Amino acid sequence: MCGIVGYIGHREAYPIILQGLQRLEYRGYDSAGIALYDGDHLKVCKTKGKVEDLKNRLESEISTKGTIGIGHTRWATHGVPNDINSHPHISNSGNLVIIHNGIIENYDPLRQELINRGYSFQSDTDTEVLVNLIEDVKSKENVKLGKAVQIALNQTIGAYAIAVFDKTKPNEIVVARLGSPLAIGVGDDEFFIASDATPFIEYTNNAIYLEDGEMAVVRNHKELEIRKIKDDSLVDPYIQELQLNLEQIEKGGYDHFMIKEIYEQPDAITDTFRGRMKTKEGIIRMAGIDDNIDKFLNARRIVVVACGTSWHAGLVAEYIFEEFARIPVEVEYASEFRYRNPVIYEDDVVIAISQSGETADTMAAIKLAKEKGAFVFGVCNVVGSSISRETHAGAYTHAGPEIGVASTKAFTTQITILTLIALKLAKLKGKLSLTEFRTYLQELESIPAKVAEALKSNEQAIRVAAQYKDVANALYLGRGYNFPVALEGALKLKEISYIHAEGYPAAEMKHGPIALIDEEMPVVVIATRQGHYEKVVSNIEEIKARSGKIIGIVSKGDTEVKKLADHVIEIPETLEPFTPLLTTIPLQLLSYHIAVMLGKNVDQPRNLAKSVTVE
Ligand code: AGP
Ligand code: GLU
Repeated sequence: MCGIVGYIGHREAYPIILQGLQRLEYRGYDSAGIALYDGDHLKVCKTKGKVEDLKNRLESEISTKGTIGIGHTRWATHGVPNDINSHPHISNSGNLVIIHNGIIENYDPLRQELINRGYSFQSDTDTEVLVNLIEDVKSKENVKLGKAVQIALNQTIGAYAIAVFDKTKPNEIVVARLGSPLAIGVGDDEFFIASDATPFIEYTNNAIYLEDGEMAVVRNHKELEIRKIKDDSLVDPYIQELQLNLEQIEKGGYDHFMIKEIYEQPDAITDTFRGRMKTKEGIIRMAGIDDNIDKFLNARRIVVVACGTSWHAGLVAEYIFEEFARIPVEVEYASEFRYRNPVIYEDDVVIAISQSGETADTMAAIKLAKEKGAFVFGVCNVVGSSISRETHAGAYTHAGPEIGVASTKAFTTQITILTLIALKLAKLKGKLSLTEFRTYLQELESIPAKVAEALKSNEQAIRVAAQYKDVANALYLGRGYNFPVALEGALKLKEISYIHAEGYPAAEMKHGPIALIDEEMPVVVIATRQGHYEKVVSNIEEIKARSGKIIGIVSKGDTEVKKLADHVIEIPETLEPFTPLLTTIPLQLLSYHIAVMLGKNVDQPRNLAKSVTVE
């Protein structure tokens, strides 16, 4: 996900690249590196840690001379964050140097093939495989770098934004993109390359945004050629004159990181199941599960430990695992679990869910579960985080850095991972036929597009937000799979708008909360057609009879709730177990717009931290 920066032109490359990496820090990263060529020597400095660490180390270790260079901030996907795995990576010959954002899914077979041809690898990354694949093609086919990159990329599966150059021909840089952003800044006698325009906006506002499947060669400071990777056809460059300022570019043109991350969810969910799901063959492949499959198949029960939104994802997992895999699940607040001397059996599987991978309570719960002999599996979004290193095994959500304190894409990608695990276990335990299994995989594949469809309810969410932004309290109700979503929706509203909100199972109303209902109380009711619909409708009638204001989250085309509710927000239909991935979207949008209308600090709400690393 992170950041790439490159420069070729008449200026010294280093200051431009260094500042460019600093401009991209907002995207979140775990390590950084720069390669420079001064006409005689290719110099590379890279390090785990911050750009500041890189700066201090580079300026003490190498000369910063050179008018061509590339720089990278890494968000590790393959290989923990350390100096060796940081980018840039150099090919075996020492001539080619590359930086890469994204994931090469088929890097392992490619790596084996290259090893058979005598290549060796220093790092654990997929990126080092790519630069040696390019080198192998270049030498075997005896072609220029641009052609070699094109042939090599056509052998890969995955996502990339890359920049690569050959120190033996230092008058050109080759770039390519598929699934990760890449912009070219067109200057006067110089070119800039970057993940977005922030690194070069003060040098030029003339930018070319490569499209997916396109590559470009920038040469001799003035020549630019764009081609389609697949068929080598030439593409006319379309130079845009940017009117954005720095801050707007950092947020991808959105007003806040939170709304940017809400809209990133289709891609984040796609990236999370990318390479793990083969629908036609009916296969789910996850190394952390496959290597420990007996633990899961023989598990007496699954105990989830997590906090906040991650705990809500765990609650969804309880419904999914028990329905699909018929394994008993208990979901524990990590902060409670760690202090109550819980009963944990050696044949328990504990699943720790944490976006940051640094939450102190969750870490403590993991250590306690390990002491009691359980197998602990982590679901984290940060590669190499403390929790990912403390657990016996794990799976990463590939949501990319989540900057907004209110968790959004982490929630939906956590559910995606947990769903894959539950489906895999259900198939292996014979609880699902191959046909049923494939049906679920097909529906899961359609979820990113349905999330994109659900995001179109934004205008409806804005209208509802305007009506209820000044309320003092709110209730959120859901049944079954959507009870945890009701809790999550209430948390979103609380934490960014500071309005008190509570989530309840819809049927719980009659056990007390209904006493709260009056014309001042908005009640958000998740009433999708799948799952207890008629019962939820009768809950809505009970609220209406007491003058409560009803906001229904309904399936597209719903008419029954529409007659009863004061407002409805429609979302696409899906299979009941997958409804949380869609019903959460309007709740995220609703809380975001209310907070914005109230003038709250949406990305950094008062009293909150993105990662609660203290008890
Ligand atoms: C959710 O929007 C909050 N940011 C908070 O509840 C968060 O989910 C919780 O602190 C757990 O964080 P983690 O997933 O990084 O462990
Ligand atoms: N997959 C590459 C790695 O893990 C690139 C990750 C990134 O996008 O920063 O090194």
